[in-house]
Parts: sequence; C-alpha cells; structure tokens
Amino acid sequence: MYRQVATALSFTSLVLGQQAGTLTEEIHPSLPIEVCTAPGSCTKEDTTVVLDANWRWTHVTDGYTNCYTGNAWNETACPDGVTCAANCAIDGADYEGTYGITTPSDGALKLNFVTKNQNGQNVGSRVYLMKGDDKYRLFNLLNKEFTFDVDVSNLPCGLNGAVYFSEMDEDGGMSRFEGNKAGAKYGTGYCDSQCPQDIKFINGEANTEGWGGTDGNSGTGKYGTCCAEMDIWEANSDATAYTPHPCKVNEQTRCESEEECGAGDNRYAGLCDKDGCDFNSFRLGNKEFYGPGMTVDTSKPFTVVTQFITDDNTDTGALKEIRRFYVQDGTVIPNSQTVIEGVDPTNSITDEFCEQQKTAFGDTNYFKTVGGLSAMGKSLEKMVLVLSVWDDHAAAMNWLDSNYPTDGDPSKPGVARGRCDAEAGLPENVEAEHPDASVTYSNIKIGAINSTFTAA
Ligand SMILES: *[C@@H]1O[C@H](CO)[C@@H](O)[C@H](O)[C@H]1NC(C)=O
Ligand SMILES: *[C@@H]1O[C@H](CO)[C@@H](O)[C@H](O)[C@H]1NC(C)=O
Repeated sequence: MYRQVATALSFTSLVLGQQAGTLTEEIHPSLPIEVCTAPGSCTKEDTTVVLDANWRWTHVTDGYTNCYTGNAWNETACPDGVTCAANCAIDGADYEGTYGITTPSDGALKLNFVTKNQNGQNVGSRVYLMKGDDKYRLFNLLNKEFTFDVDVSNLPCGLNGAVYFSEMDEDGGMSRFEGNKAGAKYGTGYCDSQCPQDIKFINGEANTEGWGGTDGNSGTGKYGTCCAEMDIWEANSDATAYTPHPCKVNEQTRCESEEECGAGDNRYAGLCDKDGCDFNSFRLGNKEFYGPGMTVDTSKPFTVVTQFITDDNTDTGALKEIRRFYVQDGTVIPNSQTVIEGVDPTNSITDEFCEQQKTAFGDTNYFKTVGGLSAMGKSLEKMVLVLSVWDDHAAAMNWLDSNYPTDGDPSKPGVARGRCDAEAGLPENVEAEHPDASVTYSNIKIGAINSTFTAA
C-alpha cells in the first residue's frame, strides 16, 4: 500500500515538525453524542473520533521511509527529538482495515482487539472524541453525569475496555508546542496519570532520548506525558473499576525526570497519583455483583451512569462525591455496597471512603497527598473523552481482575480484585487465545444530574 514515492511532499521538511502526513486521507468516524437537560430532553451533537498518534504510521516527510520501525527510531531521520519531529510525519488512518475500529450503528463504536492487516497485525486502539476536525470535544463534568452503554460480553479476562477522561489540550498541544504541526486532527497530545513514557512524540518533540524497546512493538523514552485522569470505566466481562487520578499539574505536562514521572521507586513522588482511589465492587467485598449472570449481567449490554456531585450542587463547586448507577433491562441498579472491615458501608467515592479504603488495604494514600477529590474536580472542568481497548504488558491486568500484587495473599483485604486467572492477561496468552475479542460503546450522553437515564 505504501509503495510509490511522493515527490510532491518533499518541500516542507525544513519548516514543519511532527507533521501531518497526506498519504492516507484522515477521515474521522462519526460518533454523535447527546447533551441532556432533563429526562427525555436531549439534543444530539455531531462528534467524531480520532485515533491516537502513537498507533499511526510515522514516515519521513518526503517519502515512504519509516521513522520508526518495530520499537526503534531511524537514527538518520531522528538524531534527536526536535530534528525527528521536523523530519517525520504521522499519517492518516484506515480505521477499519488497519485498526479494526468501526461504527456499527449511529452513536456506536466498536473496537476490535487484534486486527490482521497488510502490515501484520494491530493490537488494541485508543481514540478521542472530537468536535469539528481540529479540536477535541472538551467536557466539564462538575455537577453533571456521564452515561454510556457498553457491551463487554466479548471482552474476556485480561482485557480492558476503557472509557475515561484525560486533561489533554483541546488542540492536541499545537498552539503550545511549535514542533507539533499535526494537532488533534491526528490524535496528538495524549497524557494520563501514569505519565506514560511509551509515547513517541511529546510536546512537539520525538521521545528519542533514552528510547529502549520494552518488547517487539513498543519502547519507552526519557520523557513521559502527565495529566489528571478520571477513569469512568476500566472493565472486561469479569471485573470493573472506576477511579479518579488527580495530578499536581492542571494541564498536559511533560515529566523530565524519574521523580517527576513517578517511575520505579518514585511512584509516590511523581506529578500524578498513579494508584488513584478505585471503586472495584469485587475488591470491596461484593463478589456477586458484576459478571455473567450476576446483578449487573455482563453477558448482555447495560448502561453505566457516573455522577459528579459538588459541595454546593453547582457547576463551579468543589467535587465531593462520585456516584455510580447501572441500568439494565429497564431497571436502575444502584452500585454495590462495600463490605470491608474498616470501611463504612458506601457505594460511592468520597475522600473519606478513599482514606478508609487505603488504610484497610494498607495502601499509600497518594491520592490525598495530590489533593483528593477537590484536585480531581479542578481538572474535570476541561476533559477529553478517551475510548480504548488494551492488554497490559506491565501487569497482565491483574490489578483489575485477579490477585494483585501477584504474589500477595488473596485472603488479605485488597489483594483479590476479580475472579480471573493471573495468567489470563499475559499479552502472549490473551492475544493468542482471544484475538477476536471486542468491545462496543454506544449512546454516550452528558447532562444534568439524573437527566440521562430513567427506569422503565
Ligand atoms: C533511515 O532514514 C534515512 C533517511 O531518511 C533512509 O535513507 C534510510 O534508508 C532509513 N533507514 C532505515 C533502516 O529505514
Ligand atoms: C437521582 O436518581 C437516583 C436514582 O434513581 C436517586 O436515588 C436520587 O435521589 C436522584 N437525585 C436527584 C438529585 O434527583
């Protein structure tokens, strides 16, 4: 497919950086959402999705030579990060053919796990919601609720179908970083609370310094890209969690040292709260709530409602609580109650719940150090919606659906997070055994509290 040499593209390489390629036209799949003011009072908004830049073909601006192959940079095109961003372009995406991303019906998005394509195969994907062709759709979640339907019936143990918000720049960082000429249109500017260091371009520069392969298809560099993250939904058919992760910074920020990035032993010194304060029903003592045939029956679709309650019930108040409801077959299902010694029974996230949970489980409360729910709330005013499916090369998804730490005693409170086998999520296992897995998200809504759902 990438055969010819395009001579017409050879003039721009001196002035531009992290450029937009033009070999494949970038066409964003349509994913409309609804904005609601009261039950039954919703307005459709024409939004689309864009694939993250990291998944895209990166080639020299004046030809078809890869700037990045497997897990290595081309040293001629990329002697350093600034030069690399000037020499290399990220190109348009064939959403369905290369990445297995489709919109099976109006307002629905299906992400396939493994997609065989002309280059081999693609594993997982991550897309962002857009308003127009060049900007992400920003959300203010305070005093609002966010709702979507999900079908996880084909998403087994070890996988993670995630719906979350990250505090990315609206334009992907194009106006703040001179070297970024591709912008939101090509899915640039990603950040999250893990300060990921496997991102190829950060702040308009390639992350070439110190780049080392972690395995055949990815690597990590010196820099990471940090920002607050609200995990609405991290789940498969056997486990689920929702988790606020505040940061000390209130916009996408490149971390430049092990300490800032919270790498290795610096986990509780970094810019962001990597652990977050998670609400996982299984981990919190209700093992029959979520799964096939359970209270929330994951063998068929259901609706997930997440409410962001402020202290004065206005859009400018401080975040004090994050509530969860499910709706399935016309019935509203309140979130499960905690059954953990030392945690007052509750079914929502508050700072008090986080403190009690961390103490009961013997976890470090870095969530509190970074500012807890009120810090999270400041970020929630301008978030970008992320939808993804992924497997976990670092911890086999055991932190979500199995015992974690892996060598921990599962009878110790907090260790058992789900009923999955610890080896189910090893990438070599899940990619070989469940390449045809997929997740479908649909009927995305944002609105006033209790406006986006009703009981039948
Ligand atoms: C690296 O890039 C240079 C210059 O663009 C090109 O001539 C060379 O073939 C590339 N090397 C590889 C291994 O792709
Ligand atoms: C919203 O709906 C829930 C579930 O039906 C109910 O418990 C709650 O009181 C409602 N809240 C408001 C503000 O109406």
